Formats: sequence, structure tokens, C-alpha cells
Amino acid sequence: MNAILSVDHARRTFGGLIAVNDVSFDVREGELLGLIGPNGSGKTTMLNLISGALKPTAGEIRLKGERLSGRSAHHIARQGVARTFQLVRILPSMTAEENVMAGAVFARNRLWGSDARALARTLLARVGLEGRADMAVSAMTYIDQKRIELARALASDPRVLLLDEWLAGLNPTELKIGIALIDDLRREGRTIIMVEHVMDAIRTLCDRCVVMNTGSKIAEGDVAEVLADPQVVRAYLGDDEDA
Ligand SMILES: Nc1ncnc2c1ncn2[C@@H]1O[C@H](COP(=O)(O)OP(=O)(O)O)[C@@H](O)[C@H]1O
Ligand SMILES: [Mg+2]
Repeated sequence: MNAILSVDHARRTFGGLIAVNDVSFDVREGELLGLIGPNGSGKTTMLNLISGALKPTAGEIRLKGERLSGRSAHHIARQGVARTFQLVRILPSMTAEENVMAGAVFARNRLWGSDARALARTLLARVGLEGRADMAVSAMTYIDQKRIELARALASDPRVLLLDEWLAGLNPTELKIGIALIDDLRREGRTIIMVEHVMDAIRTLCDRCVVMNTGSKIAEGDVAEVLADPQVVRAYLGDDEDA
């Protein structure tokens, strides 16, 4: 398997709580991997370990064989890992374009000035915000703010894109648009890890998925098979007798 990202026995504790418990998985180049599991199962913590927002207590994370774990979030971003947040984080006092340009600054090939601006305009159009570059993001709807966050992540031309419930909170019409947008990124060959609760999206978009429950990986593989796995079904029903 041609792994671009390897998570190798990653562990993260908070005091006595084991939020991520010796989790290992590989992500293939060009793959859209779903990371799913009930609330509190450690998905966001896993993304935080990959992006460097948190350091693992033990274990290793590698991008193309190079160790990321233990490095700063800034370094990891520079290596080509970009993310969106479960709760949208953009700069409300700035325009759409300025927010996206901020992402280009962390690019592997740093862009400035007119180059960053041109890229920002292209990406805003890409996520469906053509002609709104100068709008203050505080005046924008929730889905449009999410689009900006996605465009900002794309501005760094990431080798691995991490999406933390990017589809959450969208109405059914917006959801269709959002799924089509992610599908577009997949077709373009982006490597993506998608944390998601919207099962339709997981089924439609993902090549494979990894399932977590109470910090541990409980299943991995083909989406249909994994979702039919009795242990996964039990985890989602909140029956933790096997946990
Ligand atoms: N910074 C933190 N400090 C203490 N506990 C945390 C922190 N972040 C997450 N946790 C705990 O780790 C567990 C996993 O959380 P999280 O990774 O956010 O799960 P998920 O994204 O799957 O809902 C939860 O019990 C949560 O309360
Ligand atoms: Mg989460």
C-alpha cells in the first residue's frame, strides 16, 4: 500500500482519560478516508494529533515516512497538512479573500501579495463564492463561512486535508452542495481524512473508513462492510458492553 500518512500506535491521554488509545492506520495517496465513531470517541483528538494541535503521549505519525509527531503545528502545516475545525474558525473582521489568503501564507510554496490574491479568488470561485471576495465574513451565512474555511485550507495546497465534521449543521440543500464539493476534491486526487456523522456522506464519498469507539479503533475497511459490523452497530447504539 502506498501510504502517504501513517498513524502508528498513537496515544493521547488527558489526566486519567485515554482519548486516543494506541490507534494505527494508514492513509493512501489520493484516498478519502472516513473517520467515524460516536461522540467522544476521540476523532477530533486524532485530527489534533495529526495536525500538531496536540502532541501524542506515545506513538508516531509520519507523512511520507517523515516524522510529524512531536513537531509544531506550524511545521506540520508547512509539511502539507491542512484542516478545517468542528466549530468554524475564521477571522470575522476580515474579508473572504483575506481569510483565504491567510491560508496561502502557510503553503509549502509560500505565496504573497498578488499571487496569494489570485489564488484566493480562484479558490473562492471553486467553493461557490465567486464575486464575494470583498465581503466581510461576519456578514456571511454559516455554509458560506464553511466554504471560506475550506478554501483557506486548500490555499496551502495540502498533501493531506483534514475535515472535522465539515458537513455538520447544513440543511438538506446545502448538504448536497457540500457533498458535491468534497466529491470534487476527491476526484481531483486530494488525500482527505473526513470526520463525519452524516452517514450518507460517508457512504457516498469514502473509499474506506476507520471506526473509533472510546478512544480505540474498533474497525477499518470497506465502508459497507464496516457499517454492517455488529461491533460498530453496537457502538453507535451506545451499547458499550464490549468496550
Ligand atoms: N483538551 C482536552 N482536555 C481534556 N479532555 C479532552 C480534551 N479534548 C478532548 N477531550 C476528551 O477526549 C475524549 C474524546 O474527545 P474528542 O476527540 O473530541 O471526541 P469526538 O471528536 O470523537 O467527539 C472526550 O472524552 C473528551 O472529553
Ligand atoms: Mg469531534
